[in-house]
Amino acid sequence: MCTGGFAKCLGISLIPLAVLCILCNILLFFPGGVPADDSTHITDEVFYLGGIIGSGFLMIFPALVFLGLKNNDCCGCCGNESCGKRFAMFTSIIFAAVGILGAGYSVIVSSVAINQGPKCATASHNWTYPFSNGNYLSNHSSWDSCESPDGIVSWHLTLFSLLLVTGIVQVALCAMQTINGLIGTICGDCCGVRAPHQQGVL
Ligand SMILES: *[C@@H]1O[C@H](CO)[C@@H](O)[C@H](O)[C@H]1NC(C)=O
Repeated sequence: MCTGGFAKCLGISLIPLAVLCILCNILLFFPGGVPADDSTHITDEVFYLGGIIGSGFLMIFPALVFLGLKNNDCCGCCGNESCGKRFAMFTSIIFAAVGILGAGYSVIVSSVAINQGPKCATASHNWTYPFSNGNYLSNHSSWDSCESPDGIVSWHLTLFSLLLVTGIVQVALCAMQTINGLIGTICGDCCGVRAPHQQGVL
């Protein structure tokens, strides 16, 4: 496949992933699926906006740039027809780096949140973090330490895990585009693609 076509595939994949991350982060503002009585009852990492800014907003730019790469050759430059395309490929590497930073931020925030566990009300009606260092992950009976909101531990774990996994996939896709963009910069859009009658020559 040509580098421009491959970049388009990457761009198309990044958009639903970004939307998913934005949704997850928004849902986390509703602990257990209901509006919080007080914003201090929401886990701190939710406010770091890893899903909305990192894996969401910052991912829109690389996604749109990758999508457009296939057709992005305004007029060439210096009489060299594919030069505009090569320059676009080169710029896409910078956007891929933005994507890696954004998704990487979301991955870090989600890991910290999963490790720490959710903020919830304990039996003594204190709003606190009853877990630490992921000790609740392997001990389902300890989840009862959270009296309210209902189902907060699985809510927290499911949504932050989705953010974590999606962020890792986004980092991988952007990393692929840095390599793809490098190839596109060096040899233009369709290097390595030969007409059928030339196949087997190399
Ligand atoms: C699981 O958590 C409960 C409640 O916090 C605790 O009493 C129990 O010792 C824990 N079990 C293990 C295997 O850590």
